[in-house]
Amino acid sequence: MSLSGKERNNNLEYFESIKNDILRSIERNAPIIGARNPMIGGGPDDFTWTYPEEYFWTDSFWTGELWLAYMITGQEQYKNMGRMRNAHLQKILDTPLWLNHDLGFEFSLSAVADYKLTGCQEAKQLGIKAAEALRSRYNWNGKYILAWTAGSGNKAHAESIQGKIIIDCMQNLALLLWAYQETNIESFKEAAIGHADTTMEYIVRADYSTYHTYDFDPATNKPVGGKTHQGYADESCWSRGQAWAIHGYAQLALMTGDSKYADLSEKLTAYMLTKITDDFVPVWDYLLPDDEIQYKDTSAGAVTSAGLYILADVVDGYGEKEKAKNYRELATKMLVALRENYDLTRDESAQGLLSDSASSVPHAKLRDQENLANAMLPYGDYYYFEAVLRALGHNKLFW
Ligand code: GLY
Repeated sequence: MSLSGKERNNNLEYFESIKNDILRSIERNAPIIGARNPMIGGGPDDFTWTYPEEYFWTDSFWTGELWLAYMITGQEQYKNMGRMRNAHLQKILDTPLWLNHDLGFEFSLSAVADYKLTGCQEAKQLGIKAAEALRSRYNWNGKYILAWTAGSGNKAHAESIQGKIIIDCMQNLALLLWAYQETNIESFKEAAIGHADTTMEYIVRADYSTYHTYDFDPATNKPVGGKTHQGYADESCWSRGQAWAIHGYAQLALMTGDSKYADLSEKLTAYMLTKITDDFVPVWDYLLPDDEIQYKDTSAGAVTSAGLYILADVVDGYGEKEKAKNYRELATKMLVALRENYDLTRDESAQGLLSDSASSVPHAKLRDQENLANAMLPYGDYYYFEAVLRALGHNKLFW
């Protein structure tokens, strides 16, 4: 399907129509989803959600969509459905095995969203408690936030993650910076900045591609090296990781006012542009060999597009109007590519917004589970909605 002439000539009308389709999809699916938290779609042609037994890092992306819906419609039902997750959020904070760097995703898009939109003090306290838990993962000597928490029973795995950081964590720093803004407690900011600078030094390579993860010796904090977890290879460039970095550093530039983070987001974008296919939808790894299946990752496209709108706002703030226009155009091109080829909002039976996201292709192979390589993902959906709202000029969201 291609853009009609009218749509091409009138971006705002075009994005309004996506927004309205997204709202209709959310309204249609909210009673089906209920108080559950979507984890991943059933498969390439199965547009229904599966849910975690108890907890998964994805637990707040649908909640984030509900809060975005509340933000733009003011309809109480979305606020109430967002708050239906509060007991689960509290349980996350009370369950040591569930505490990991993902606290930022989980609480920025729920408790912080609630507080920002309604001023609810209980929500604010929930957000601050989550920020404290995230800060407690910061290694003050090594200057990094530990990514994961090991479950029981696998000593080798537990040891292998003792000094591990991951690029995804760039999205979680906004929770710490928000807590700093709310409390003036410097340690929140120090942990966020320390982690961002360590990531810049070790995860970002000289050519501005990124490792997915990087290990430090937990005893000495000396750098050990980069590894992948969801990318094709240790030295490849997982496209969602590059997207987390583009969005994360743009967001950090906005929140701290430090232009070095905007500069980095620009360089990460320049690298992405040397690799992205002509359709402007990322393949799941930017350095994937030609003889591998070229699965798309629309979630990487959605995160990148949303990040580029932030970057455009940041450079606009520096007075660089032409550059801002270019980033906005690029963000729009990536967003239109999703709408035209992967949007599910007008499919009455689809429970999510975007098809063709890749959770983890290596794990799809290991577990012989196709939906890990190609399915709907709640984070693809959340960032798609975020990108559409940013395209429409909303720039005060939840991070
Ligand atoms: N944060 C995990 C992922 O992006 O799949």
